[in-house]
Amino acid sequence: ITDPRKRVLNTIRNIPDWPEPGVTFRDITPVLQDPVCFRSLIDIFVYRYMRTRVDLVAGVDARGFIVGSVLAYELNLGFVPVRKKGKLPFDTLIEDYELEYGMSSVEIHTDALRPGQRVLLVDDLIATGGTMLAASRLLQRLGANVVEAVAIVDLPDLGGSKALEKEGLNVFSVCQF
Ligand code: PRP
Ligand code: HPA
Repeated sequence: ITDPRKRVLNTIRNIPDWPEPGVTFRDITPVLQDPVCFRSLIDIFVYRYMRTRVDLVAGVDARGFIVGSVLAYELNLGFVPVRKKGKLPFDTLIEDYELEYGMSSVEIHTDALRPGQRVLLVDDLIATGGTMLAASRLLQRLGANVVEAVAIVDLPDLGGSKALEKEGLNVFSVCQF
C-alpha cells in the first residue's frame, strides 16, 4: 500500500465486543508498532500543518500524548498535556465531561499557553466528542485559538465530530469507521 491514509486504515486493528459486547474497538497500537506506518501517520499531520500558523500542540491523556508530542517535535513546536484529573502539579483549570457511564474530568496548567496562541488539539480518536470538547474548552478558557481538533480515527455514527463542528471547531481525522 502506498497511500498513507489507506496504510493507516488497514493497520488499525478491530477488536469485536471490547470493552463490552456490541462495541468494536479500533486499536491503534499496530500503527504505532510498525515504523513505516507510524511515520506515514505522522507525515499526514506534518504535511497538513507545516504551512499553517500554529504556536503549540496540545495532546489529550493518554493516547493523544503519543501522536501529539511527536507531531509537536516534527513541527518544531512545544507540547502541552491535557491530563485526566489529579495528575498535574501546578495551578489548573478543570472541565467535566460525560462518558458512556458516569463522568470524567480533564485538566490543564493555567500557564500552559498565552491568550491568542494558535493551538492544534490532538487525540487518537473521536467517539462522542466529549473528551475533545472538554479539552477545547480548557484551551479556550486560557484564550487559545483552537486551529483544529485532530484525530487518527473518527467514529461518525457516534456524532462526535458533528458536535465539535457545531461548537465551531474545525475537525480533521485520518480514518473514519
Ligand atoms: C478514549 C480515546 C479518546 C476518548 C474518545 O480515551 O482515547 O480520548 O476516549 O471518546 P469520546 O469522544 O466519547 O470522548 P479514554 O477515555 O478511554 O482514556 P485513555 O486514553 O486514558 O485510555
Ligand atoms: N477505540 C479506541 N478508543 C475508543 C474507542 C475505540 O473504538 N471508542 C471510544 N474510545
